[in-house]
Amino acid sequence: MEHKDILIMGIESSCDETAVSVVKNGRQILSNIISSQIDIHTLYGGVVPEIASRKHTERINYVIEEALRKADVSLDEIDAIGVTYGPGLVGALLVGVAEAKAIAYATKKPLVGVHHIEGHISANYIEHPDLEPPFLCLVVSGGHTHLVIVKDYGKYEVIGRTRDDAAGEAFDKVARAIGLGYPGGPKIDRLAKEGNPQAIEFPRAVVEGAPLDFSFSGLKSAVLNYLNMCEMKHIEVNRADVAASFQQCVVDSLVSRGMTACRETGMKKFAIAGGVASNSAIRNAFEQECDKRKIQFYHPSPIFCTDNGAMIGVAAYYEYLAGTRHGWDLNAIPNLKLGER
Ligand code: KG4
Ligand code: ZN
Repeated sequence: MEHKDILIMGIESSCDETAVSVVKNGRQILSNIISSQIDIHTLYGGVVPEIASRKHTERINYVIEEALRKADVSLDEIDAIGVTYGPGLVGALLVGVAEAKAIAYATKKPLVGVHHIEGHISANYIEHPDLEPPFLCLVVSGGHTHLVIVKDYGKYEVIGRTRDDAAGEAFDKVARAIGLGYPGGPKIDRLAKEGNPQAIEFPRAVVEGAPLDFSFSGLKSAVLNYLNMCEMKHIEVNRADVAASFQQCVVDSLVSRGMTACRETGMKKFAIAGGVASNSAIRNAFEQECDKRKIQFYHPSPIFCTDNGAMIGVAAYYEYLAGTRHGWDLNAIPNLKLGER
């Protein structure tokens, strides 16, 4: 390998995925190992934080070894260790942070802490070599719904956010209510294809005075009320119609804010990121609306939408180039704000 290549190890453990990747020169993924705990948490209907931490501890060393083996590089060849240090579940984050610190300390390599959302946004660089800031990005995951101006690598301005539930949270709660189980997003996505998105009129909430902010708790309540009403009146629920009508509401809320943001900022590049960004209806709608407005639309493949180490390695690469270095006092910050150091 030529000397100029920069290899970053990206470690992600903020929720229920233990994930490690080796990334070459910021955009080339040499390995991307993800050990998902979904099967365990499904038994409880959602992520159980204590179980998540314990499973991360059990698995992280194997995942690291596998990531190095798949990439066919030795730990010696790695230039820096990147790790998610927030936001997320504190006990889960701590496993990755402690591991990254231990490796960096033992091998005398730089330690680069990464914001989880910066990771999600950076996933777009992997398959789009032409994509460079500035651009707009909608981050939709289980914990976040953020409209972000990516001004430069590592420079972000949040211009819209959810006032209550995250988009993914709404998917998961509605899925549970109609008996689909956890995680609900992919299941609603699939079932909605068999339903009529116009069958039931659910509300599309607007936040007074904040046109770029989101609100999903009213929509979730409306779905629950609808299900209760059906039960009381002994009306049989068409679950595919509920899934499709709910999903259509989310699509409309996301697309309308996204397009308003494009108009207001004059931005001609729009990306989506996060677990919910793998939703097929959301992608199709953005593709169409961006196309109409001659806006370039970007989205990662599903494997890079949900939590993974590659996106952390990519984000860490740009932070590394910018000179970001963390000390041995790096801690897990469960409510870390984007843009904070
Ligand atoms: O980004 P992610 O893996 O974790 C967080 O940082 O939160 O996102 C997980 C979320 C879950 O709420 C899951 O239901 C949702 O992404 N999700 C989807 C789809 N695939 C995953 N939501 C809608 N449609 C999908 N196809
Ligand atoms: Zn995530």
